[in-house]
Amino acid sequence: MSSGLALRADPAPILACTVSRNVHHFDLLIEDMEAELGNAWGDLSFAEARSFIHQPGAENLEFLALALTPKDEGDLGMIGELIKAAKARGVRSILVAHELKPASLHELLRLGAEDFVPYPLSNSALHDAITRLRNQTSAPDMPQVHPVRIVGEHPERNTQAPATIAPRLGGKAAVFAIQGLAGGTGASTLAVNLAWELATIDKQKSPSVCLIDLDLQASTISAYLDLPRRDLIIELLQDARNMDVDAFKQALLGYGGKLSVFPAPPDVLPLDLIGPEEVEALLNLATQCFDVVVVDMPHTLVMWTETVLNRADVFFTTMERDMRSAQNAMRFLKALRAESLPVEKLNFVLNRAPGLTDLNGKARVKRLAESLGVKISTLLPDGGLQVVQAGDEGQPLCEIARRNVLRKEIARLATGLHKAMISEFQAKA
Ligand SMILES: Nc1ncnc2c1ncn2[C@@H]1O[C@H](COP(=O)(O)OP(=O)(O)O)[C@@H](O)[C@H]1O
Ligand SMILES: [Mg+2]
Repeated sequence: MSSGLALRADPAPILACTVSRNVHHFDLLIEDMEAELGNAWGDLSFAEARSFIHQPGAENLEFLALALTPKDEGDLGMIGELIKAAKARGVRSILVAHELKPASLHELLRLGAEDFVPYPLSNSALHDAITRLRNQTSAPDMPQVHPVRIVGEHPERNTQAPATIAPRLGGKAAVFAIQGLAGGTGASTLAVNLAWELATIDKQKSPSVCLIDLDLQASTISAYLDLPRRDLIIELLQDARNMDVDAFKQALLGYGGKLSVFPAPPDVLPLDLIGPEEVEALLNLATQCFDVVVVDMPHTLVMWTETVLNRADVFFTTMERDMRSAQNAMRFLKALRAESLPVEKLNFVLNRAPGLTDLNGKARVKRLAESLGVKISTLLPDGGLQVVQAGDEGQPLCEIARRNVLRKEIARLATGLHKAMISEFQAKA
């Protein structure tokens, strides 16, 4: 690439610019810009960019890719001014951050940068960020959320964010956590579908709902709702104590214009990447912004299980009728009791429960509950292949099979929880 727009011989219109101290420190960015834009981009120093952004023609730019290293952290003010000046001319900013401190990143996102990709760039990171920018409509009062996002091979599906992100019901937010007592017992299926049923429960006034995927190693929420990858989540989670409402909203993805999702990071991560303080901070933000927060938990006990349990109004644990679930349930209860944790918040959910006429099966469930010394309060039937199909297609069950028995049971559960929330709000009003 030539250095500086003025020196370019190629008359192709310039659609984007990298801005950095030295673009040759960002070889992968050069490669990806060429792959995405051919010759239609230029590279600028910060000084050149500050002057260029005010010149005629700059408004034709789609975006600036600001490539930053720790050396630039002393100049955040100047970089912020550049982002603002670009924004004023309708030019978006993507941060390409090489070892930047999360606090600096937040500062620049707060100042108006639209998106963030870590450097070295992963395969499709820049492409995905550009796609996100192009799919965004620029709502001036809501620059941080993603109003329209069409992804994957399903153009007819909208991964649209809710129009506003705010509590609607005027009470304290309810927190529902869901943990599988063994893998594959339907925790994420319940989390996704419960969140969706709550978010769509009333035509006029459904609660605003945020689904948080904290299953950092086996996350499936993004797949079950066909949501795009969000690389910035890992930084935000690690620095959650400094995250503010804007940064939190920026991280959210939307589904169907009604549900907001805080996804898990796209890569498999150690569960102790975050601790109780980060989880507490995340829950504080979510409960500030929404009426209902649904948390998909990892299957194992972690340092912050207690944090979520303490915050939860109901902590669902999913299990099946096998020995594996029974033994894990026993161990789980023992661990909680040993720490004097609020076991009464647990709501045992038996998935793939026996049908009404399966007397043998029902007797076994009764014995299971007795041996654990708990009540199994929620029974979810086997919904058959449609459940797997909904997950594979990235849609809540209700959207592809409204009459499915599992969908109906989860809808009933949602109705009960919604009623309980409303009457609690009214009692406190
Ligand atoms: N009640 C059910 N009926 C039919 N299939 C189910 C049911 N619950 C879960 N599944 C399927 O079982 C698999 C595992 O479910 P998932 O919710 O991902 O489990 P977990 O989050 O506990 O690991 C998925 O393919 C899901 O579609
Ligand atoms: Mg899961």
